[in-house]
Amino acid sequence: MKVLILFAHPAFHKSKVNKILVDGLSELEGVTFHDLYEHYPEFDIDVKEEQKLLSEHDCIIFQHPIFWYSTPAILKEWQDLVLEHGWAFGSEGNALKDKLFFCALTAGGPEQAYQVEGYHNHTLNQLLAPLKQTAQLCKMIPLPPFAVHGTHAMETDEILDHKNDYFTLLKMIIDDKLDLDKVSELDYLNQYLIKEEL
Ligand SMILES: Cc1cc2nc3c(=O)[nH]c(=O)nc-3n(C[C@H](O)[C@H](O)[C@H](O)COP(=O)(O)O)c2cc1C
Repeated sequence: MKVLILFAHPAFHKSKVNKILVDGLSELEGVTFHDLYEHYPEFDIDVKEEQKLLSEHDCIIFQHPIFWYSTPAILKEWQDLVLEHGWAFGSEGNALKDKLFFCALTAGGPEQAYQVEGYHNHTLNQLLAPLKQTAQLCKMIPLPPFAVHGTHAMETDEILDHKNDYFTLLKMIIDDKLDLDKVSELDYLNQYLIKEEL
């Protein structure tokens, strides 16, 4: 499996968590790391180039900090421009069919705050519904998110543990070792590793 990471962080120089998570990603065999803000600082997204990249990969990941319960702006612009009717969706739009899709995101809020009865009044999966449905409309296979919660007070050791999990999951995807039936039962992709250890 070939993995395409579409990375979006508008203030990468200020990043604490994603800076560590992305370090070494582009050296992983089978991973293409594509930094959208670096490529398109003026949001002048090259649609044909993006579509070519998507076609060349089997698993598409949006990696980003969660901003206002959603993605940073360039990922919305990217969806609006790149996911064209007749290419990504519609009766003739099969370019993304059966590719895996998920978000690898970081969130300031802790996991317990992302509950219906919690501080944010919604689960993370409820908030990510538009992205999941977009993937479904494009005939992709949406997976639960890989999420790093509670970033504000997070120490480097803890970030490195999450990075280790992220890289382990990526290697499992590349080696086509992810059991998609098991994955579909999870709220978070992170839980797959805990399940595997049991
Ligand atoms: C504009 C903006 C909006 C944010 N919105 C949210 C949010 O909706 N939910 C949340 O949990 N954290 C939110 N945060 C916190 C970021 O998600 C958090 O700082 C980031 O994931 C940390 O990753 P980094 O160290 O790579 O920047 C927001 C931060 C900014 C700057």
